[in-house]
Amino acid sequence: MSDKPHPTTTQSGTPVVSDEHSLTVGPDGVTVLHDRYLVEKLAQFNRERIPERIVHAKGGGAFGRLVITGDVSAYTRAQVFAPGADSEMLARFSTVAGEQGSPDTWRDVRGFALKFYSAEGNFDIVGNNTPVFFIRDAIKFPDFIHSQKRLPGSGLRDLDMQWDFWTLSPESAHQVTYLMGDRGLPSNWRRMNGYGSHTYQWINAAGERFWVKYHFISRLGAANLDAAEAERIAGVNADFYRQDLYDAIARGDFPTWDVKVQIMPYAEAAGYRFNPFDLTKVWPHGDYPLIDVGHFTLDRNPRNFFAEIEQAAFAPSNLVPGTDISPDKMLMARIFSYADAQRYRVGTNYMQLPVNAPHAAEVHSYSQDGAARHQFNDPTTPVYAPNGFNGPVADPAVALEGSWESDGELVRTAASLHAEDNDFGQAGTMYRQVFTPEQKARFLATLTGQGQGLTVAAIKTRFVQYWTNVDADLGAQVAGAMGLPAVDPNAQ
Ligand code: HEM
Repeated sequence: MSDKPHPTTTQSGTPVVSDEHSLTVGPDGVTVLHDRYLVEKLAQFNRERIPERIVHAKGGGAFGRLVITGDVSAYTRAQVFAPGADSEMLARFSTVAGEQGSPDTWRDVRGFALKFYSAEGNFDIVGNNTPVFFIRDAIKFPDFIHSQKRLPGSGLRDLDMQWDFWTLSPESAHQVTYLMGDRGLPSNWRRMNGYGSHTYQWINAAGERFWVKYHFISRLGAANLDAAEAERIAGVNADFYRQDLYDAIARGDFPTWDVKVQIMPYAEAAGYRFNPFDLTKVWPHGDYPLIDVGHFTLDRNPRNFFAEIEQAAFAPSNLVPGTDISPDKMLMARIFSYADAQRYRVGTNYMQLPVNAPHAAEVHSYSQDGAARHQFNDPTTPVYAPNGFNGPVADPAVALEGSWESDGELVRTAASLHAEDNDFGQAGTMYRQVFTPEQKARFLATLTGQGQGLTVAAIKTRFVQYWTNVDADLGAQVAGAMGLPAVDPNAQ
């Protein structure tokens, strides 16, 4: 780089006279509207912000590589998972409910979004640091999120609103147990595990289908903050996690996650003891053990946060051959929701931005035009299909492979229950069998704090019932701490 700085120019590339002084009629006179540089500078400034993500607004991320060291070719023909494959990638971590400037260490589920720039196109896994979710039907998602955000009148977050929704939505119990437990406050993003959470589908080279769940296990080990420390940090450094990741990568301390999967043979779904497409349930590892796939390492910070992280567009609809979705009602709706949000949030042609464009794969699409279009086809390529001019041709074999049997009348009803399905069972098992005595004590303290913050009598009663349904002893302790009578665990 030469020592002499570049001259400032307008956005059309012409040199400008001053970055210090506007053009005025005499030193003390009025500012003129034809100061085209001043006008351009202020107008561009007014447009610097794009809407924040409707959820997961606060986050940060980094680039890296996914390396496949295992052999899962018996289950998927996706090249991104082929033995020895090495793909560039982007990860973004986030909180769910907080806005852009909100503290990283507020108790929340954490987003765990991955984009792999594979030779067959971009493959995204948009997951969380928990393997389950609060609801199981997408039609409840806007209501759920409204209950976690702010009251329209006061603009304040509200415990009554959150617990009103949760206690009226018993399917939330498993995820709320994670959230109110240690996992609601990770030490930092590097020390949390990630999950695809949903059941997805894999298809092998012979066309055989499997159900799959993704797990990302931090090599640093999962670790968490206690509530008092998280609260202290929130007041001192709202960007604590973002800074931790950035600083670690800047000093060459690159975080790595092992990539593992659980595989269920296609035909076992129908008879499995839990509905395997219910996002509020896990598959116990005793039923389907973890299989090693490989690992990913984050080793490059963004050069420009806005261009590469804020404008990044992760979507469960970004799938590659050999991977697909399942009949999970949440996942099917997410296929619509993300790209739609991104067309609004970033712009119609968001896929053409470098961070969102595929690296190795070529794009041969019949889409055209729209605001801020940057790429265009060779003018000899037809703009419609079918065509007789050798334009791109779709491959029906790719589209048909990710499928499942489905037949029946149109209904609005809950998905079918399997033998051991109920809303509180897995939450109770986690509390009793997975939480250590120390974790149980912290969990009770958190619940007590939440319960004592409630102001509406009916919600307090439901709160005690909800935790009694998870575990009768826990419910009795919560009731005692809130000065309320214990309730019957079977009342539900
Ligand atoms: C039907 C349920 C859901 C709907 C409708 C939904 C919708 C959305 C939307 C609209 C965004 C913003 C996208 C953008 O502007 O770029 C988003 C972000 C996100 N969602 Fe969901 N979501 C749902 C469930 C889930 C679930 C179950 C998970 C995790 C398992 C999840 C994880 C994420 C993550 C990690 C992000 C942030 C991605 C990033 O870092 O850019 N969401 N969601």
